[in-house]
Order: sequence, then structure tokens, then C-alpha cells
Amino acid sequence: MHYYDIKYPYLQYEYTDGVMCSVPPKMLASVYKQHYGKKPKTFFDCGAAIGVVVKLAMDYDMDARGIDIRDYFASFAFRHPLFSGRPFDIEQGDTRKGVAKKDLLRLREQGRIQIKSILDCKPIKADLVYCNGVLTYFDEATLPSVLAKFQNVNMVCAIHNTIEDYVAAKKMGQELGTCQELKTVKPNDWWIDTFAQNGFDAKFNHWLRCFVAVPQR
Ligand SMILES: C[S@@+](CC[C@H](N)C(=O)[O-])C[C@H]1O[C@@H](n2cnc3c(N)ncnc32)[C@H](O)[C@@H]1O
Repeated sequence: MHYYDIKYPYLQYEYTDGVMCSVPPKMLASVYKQHYGKKPKTFFDCGAAIGVVVKLAMDYDMDARGIDIRDYFASFAFRHPLFSGRPFDIEQGDTRKGVAKKDLLRLREQGRIQIKSILDCKPIKADLVYCNGVLTYFDEATLPSVLAKFQNVNMVCAIHNTIEDYVAAKKMGQELGTCQELKTVKPNDWWIDTFAQNGFDAKFNHWLRCFVAVPQR
């Protein structure tokens, strides 16, 4: 069994280069609801890839959008007729609830998925921001500029590999890979401190396996 099957026992989907592990927006929204007493209305996926998470957030009645620095829609794999973007929910025993390619393309056409860096975005307006993997692609000097984009949101859920993940995977004889150059590999406590230094109260949520940060207002 791969370490990611243990860390993300809930959602995987096919994307252009293989399989992506992620957190279902419904689970993110339930943590938001526990904190604020109501469901988030707006959702922003920072590093949205082909937009499966944005689509699932919309299916869960959130007004969702996202950006990615890389244009997955232009890749050969995405344009291939057999590409499905199929999510499989491991905990639910692989429900094979499909996300049609045409729906993902529509997200792009509607401007719900835009190709740009978070660093080129205006401060994000959304109840809930989701960062899967993306924060580790910035160096320590740039992270404050990224977190500053989220000062107006109500909650940031950030999941990425930390030292603890590398140690746990190593015990299983595995090296964790990533699709981009990692710039910041740190222990969980370092991330909690970094959120605090940038205006957020953050905790590590063990159910989501994710940092949950709310702005200190
Ligand atoms: C692990 S994927 C997350 C995909 C999706 N959010 C999910 O959870 O299924 C991380 C994404 O962050 C994107 N990314 C990296 N640097 C970025 C930046 N500066 N601005 C926006 N996206 C970026 C990568 O291209 C990659 O698609």
C-alpha cells in the first residue's frame, strides 16, 4: 500500500499525469461548519489542476472557482478522448462517480478555472480556500506574500507533505514524490508558527490530515 493511500483515504482522481490525491470539499466544508456554524458559500482552490475539486465543491452547492499556474487543459493527456478525470472514493469503496471532461472544460470556459499564479491574483474573496500541495512550492521568503492573499477569507485548509510525512513514508520503505520542485519541507510545528506569523490561528486537523487556519481578526 502506498503512503498516500493511508494519508488520503478518501479521494483520488485521474488527472493528466496520473493519479491525484485530495480531500473532498464536503469534508472541508464540514470543518468550516463546525467552526462557523454554517456551511461555506464560496470556495477557492489554489492550485486547482483540472478542476475536479472545484466541480465537486459546486456539486456540493458552493460557488467555487480556482487557479493554477499550469495549463493542464492544453496537455495531450487531457485532450485524449479516453481521458475521464474519474474520481474514486477509497473510503466509500470506489464509487466511480465520474466527472465528465466536458464539465471540466466548461469550468475553464466559464472562467471558474484560470491559468495564473496565486502571486498574480488580487487578495482572494472566498469563505473557504483550499491549498493542496501548493504551499510547499514557495520558498520561505515568498510564503508571506502567498498567505497575504488569504487575509480576507474565513478559513484556509492546507494539506501538503511535512517532515512527519517523509519520516512515516520512509518507515514504509517509500520516498514521497511530487510533480514540482519542493522548496519548503518543514515539520508540522513550523507550519503552525508560519501561519501564526502571517496572521492566522492554525491547527493540524487529524481527521482531514490538513492544516486548518483562520485569520486572527
Ligand atoms: C497537488 S496539485 C492540487 C490539485 C487540486 N487542488 C486537488 O486538490 O486535487 C497542486 C497544484 O498547485 C499548482 N501550483 C504550483 N505553483 C502554483 C502557483 N504559484 N500558483 C497557482 N498554482 C500553483 C500546481 O501546478 C499543481 O497543479
